[in-house]
Amino acid sequence: MSDAKKKNGRSYIVRETSSGKEFELASRSGTTGPDVIDIRSLFTSHGLFTYDPGYGSTASCESKITYIDGDKGILMYRGYPVEQLAGRSSFIEVAWLLLYGELPTQAQLHEFDRSIRTHTMLNETILRLFNGFHYDAHPMAMVAGVVGSMSAFYHDTTDIHDPRHRDIFAHRIIAKLPTISAAAYKHSLGQPFTYPRNDLNYCSNLLHMFFAVPAEDYHIDPVAAEALDLLFILHADHEQNCSTSTVRMAGSSGANPYSAVAAGIAALWGPAHGGANEAVLKMLEEIGTVANIPKFIAKAKDKDDPFRLMGFGHRVYKNHDPRATIIRETCHKVLARLGRNQPLFDLALQLEEIALKDPYFIEKKLYPNVDFYSGVIYRALGIPKSMFTVMFAIARTVGWVAHWREMITDPEGRIGRPRQLYTGPTRRDYVDVSKR
Ligand code: ACO
Repeated sequence: MSDAKKKNGRSYIVRETSSGKEFELASRSGTTGPDVIDIRSLFTSHGLFTYDPGYGSTASCESKITYIDGDKGILMYRGYPVEQLAGRSSFIEVAWLLLYGELPTQAQLHEFDRSIRTHTMLNETILRLFNGFHYDAHPMAMVAGVVGSMSAFYHDTTDIHDPRHRDIFAHRIIAKLPTISAAAYKHSLGQPFTYPRNDLNYCSNLLHMFFAVPAEDYHIDPVAAEALDLLFILHADHEQNCSTSTVRMAGSSGANPYSAVAAGIAALWGPAHGGANEAVLKMLEEIGTVANIPKFIAKAKDKDDPFRLMGFGHRVYKNHDPRATIIRETCHKVLARLGRNQPLFDLALQLEEIALKDPYFIEKKLYPNVDFYSGVIYRALGIPKSMFTVMFAIARTVGWVAHWREMITDPEGRIGRPRQLYTGPTRRDYVDVSKR
């Protein structure tokens, strides 16, 4: 009996219909959520693969970090509902929770905060890398490239088997991502880089590095820093999403963790994933007025038109995305507190209302996702569209690192190596070019 079968004692019978041959597959239970059928011996014992493009029914690993129930709209980090964390915690505390599994004591939180604040500076040579990019390079391209290059600078943290190296890497990358991101922004503006200020908290320092210039004082708006902190909590992790799975996959080969995170950044950039926040804003600007909404809804429903309503739909959430609900409320508060009139937010509210009454969106269970409203807040904070996905990457770095650490120390971990259903030509002989 396998370990897996011992876990819950249940098993499933698979019957090959033409021969009647049967075999048994054990299942395993987690602490909550659906059981999994353990198919690890399927190929070696029965010569079969499973087929699941997009991995919609495949658990690629065992994890203790984040739990999602897409039907009920539940998201929990280490068991704590995200609504509670969003209302009462801070991004730095959530980062500790995701990395180490428990809420920190006061002393642990203080020490972690101190460590993050004192790892914010970059090796000066890294800053010079930005000069190799054209001014109009997309910031995601620059951030992915520069993070990928970090392994060339920080050799002292690339021994993945050394827990201390892993810890320093974790603190270092979380601390330096805002500095790298701000440098990408400053490079695109042609402004001098602004160095970090370690007396500021994580999000205030980020705003300082984005918006301060040497020629004048910059006042950090506490409302903006607070809103950013909340957005970062909501974006910090989301179990085995595309970019996190990419980080796990790249890291599973034993690659250094900076490269694995760079791979995650590249995956996040796609418009079906983290690039959606930028795409939502572009879409809202294109829609322009409430009168145009029906035209865009019709385009989204048209099978012959590739257009999709950006910020709508999710692979897992088929009821509502709890993060979108919190962000929508935050939009109201932030815009009111900043005293901004935001026509794009009104347009987004109208678009949501119209779409949610439409039978197409109802039948396909398409609801606003986390990115539908996040761009509206970023815009109100003065962050340009091209930086939206970078903001997402800063927050998600915490999740990527937590998953990478879990993957590296998983005793069942193996190099990620899926199989395939081959439908190409069968064996054939080479024909000399003169005879083709
Ligand atoms: N607008 C219109 N139709 C949609 C949308 C949308 N936004 N999303 C899904 N559909 C339709 C599809 O056309 C498909 O219809 P069909 O069954 O008639 O073929 C059906 O709903 C299911 O869609 P899939 O693409 O199969 O769903 P999947 O789970 O693979 O994709 C995804 C989820 C990528 C998020 C998709 O809903 C989408 O492209 N949304 C827009 C982009 C977006 O907002 N991405 C951010 C996701 S959240 C995040 O990553 C942070």
